[in-house]
Amino acid sequence: KELYIVGAPFAGGQGKQGVDEAPKLLLREGLETEIQNLGWNTHVSHLEFEEVKNDTPISNMKNPRFVSKAAEKVYDSVKAAAEKGFVLTVGGDHSIGAGTVAGVLAAHPEAVVLWIDAHADINTPAATQSGNIHGCPLSFPTGIDELPEDVEDGVFKWLPRKSLDFSRLAYIGLRDADEFEKSVIRKYNIAAYSMHDVDKYGIARVVEMALRRVNPGNTRPIHLSFDVDALDPFFAPSTGTPVRGGLTWREGCYICEAVAETGNLVAMDLVECNPHLGEHDEHIKSTLHSGIALVKSALGQTLL
Ligand code: ARG
Ligand code: MN
Ligand code: MN
Ligand code: MN
Repeated sequence: KELYIVGAPFAGGQGKQGVDEAPKLLLREGLETEIQNLGWNTHVSHLEFEEVKNDTPISNMKNPRFVSKAAEKVYDSVKAAAEKGFVLTVGGDHSIGAGTVAGVLAAHPEAVVLWIDAHADINTPAATQSGNIHGCPLSFPTGIDELPEDVEDGVFKWLPRKSLDFSRLAYIGLRDADEFEKSVIRKYNIAAYSMHDVDKYGIARVVEMALRRVNPGNTRPIHLSFDVDALDPFFAPSTGTPVRGGLTWREGCYICEAVAETGNLVAMDLVECNPHLGEHDEHIKSTLHSGIALVKSALGQTLL
């Protein structure tokens, strides 16, 4: 069992420094050895992202050239790794998800995407209110981004559009989707399970319903993109856009365990841990350890 850890220390998809320090810190806290203890052969690489000068907005997107270049680098690495084994991409902010989703789909064209997040991250370059591209990654592979063919400096030109069909995307944990994003979810009938659904049905049924919607018959490979802010801030306080009323530690781990049990998980992202945020060291530690617990749950750890 080969497992490729792709460190993606990128912060340009949002405004807060520190999220780029998470990959190294997660490894320092034992991420790789914990994975090895589960029986995986690990291969670690850390990407480097070159600064872009005069990176003026395109449409409403901030740092568009920088984010596009970084996500392209992630795409190349994830695609290559996914052809050889399991890929764990460690962010970084969620803008790198544009690269991980496209990279996984390049290697596994039939894959489905489970996006575990407080946010829907499907704003288009024109619709984003914040201009932060970590709120936009899913607009590109789904092809709703509407960037023109002759877009300035070829921003996001490398990314294959419509490689992700709406019928193959499911959300769990939503509680802060923007109005535009809610209209996209309705318009394309995306399988979206909010915290209201988690309260109503319980996490086990929610995962079951989500998988039945996007992967009936369990025939397709699965990419799990886990934004640590899906967890309640009690368990993951050190993150850039915390939202109250999130998943408990066990609900987060349960999602990962249940997806692992399908036998079809081929890739995972862990993003948005920001060690510069949080009131004290315990906040940072607990956020990092929540992240490590999620990864272990997805990679075969069992409780009995
Ligand atoms: N919807 C908001 C925006 O577009 C927040 C996005 C937060 N995304 C994230 N990956 N934490 O700015
Ligand atoms: Mn620092
Ligand atoms: Mn989020
Ligand atoms: Mn996100």
